[in-house]
Amino acid sequence: MRTKMVAGNWKMNKNLQEGVALATELKEAVKNPSCAVVIGTPFIHLASVAELLKGSPIKVAAENCADKEKGAYTGEVSAEMVRSTGAEYCILGHSERRAYYHEDAAILKEKVLLALANGLKVIFCIGEVKEEREAGKQNEVVKEQLEGSVFNLTAEQWANITLAYEPVWAIGTGLTATPQQAQEMHAYIRSLVAKQYGEQVADDTTILYGGSCNEKNAAELFANPDVDGGLIGGASLVAEKFMAIINAR
Ligand code: PGA
Repeated sequence: MRTKMVAGNWKMNKNLQEGVALATELKEAVKNPSCAVVIGTPFIHLASVAELLKGSPIKVAAENCADKEKGAYTGEVSAEMVRSTGAEYCILGHSERRAYYHEDAAILKEKVLLALANGLKVIFCIGEVKEEREAGKQNEVVKEQLEGSVFNLTAEQWANITLAYEPVWAIGTGLTATPQQAQEMHAYIRSLVAKQYGEQVADDTTILYGGSCNEKNAAELFANPDVDGGLIGGASLVAEKFMAIINAR
């Protein structure tokens, strides 16, 4: 049975006090969710938020981790450090990391391996930019992203991977993929997973949609058979909006 999930990605928003306040509101509101709920917070929030959410169904994710195990990498945060905060997930491959911090397939491959080796579950993001969609290359792009960074994993490792399809042209733009575009791509991604790991594993793989998913369009997106939930940016910063999305799942 595949897990349905709504995950938040706070990105670089909220100072520590604001982040703790939002997590406190969510803890109060999310008692018995009908899907898995994860919030991705900045590194410095992780320990406080994970402690606060002990005993809550809400799990905590980092938004990144280093591509090196440990040592002289000033300013970096390792997967082991993330895990030691109580966080259970790590978002990797987000398009903002790829575009602004030049994270390529090889770097992401290392990050995924380190996250898994340290007991983290990975939410791995893939998706095409506008020009690629306009050129009809979206399938090619996501296939390469999967092959380049996660299709090296064993089936056992794969059990700790959640995929997030995030068309870059939809992120933070207010432009959402239509439910049909989302379904088509999610079904395609699932077919690639099936080729690599078999039908059963593909059927069990959670594939989230991300990109201007909000309290208004979530239900329609989640109604598609291959859309298992959402990775939510902007709308995850407001407790009522995030709650409405969880309730739509
Ligand atoms: P958005 O971001 O919901 O603000 O578009 C989604 C994401 O980047 O994960």
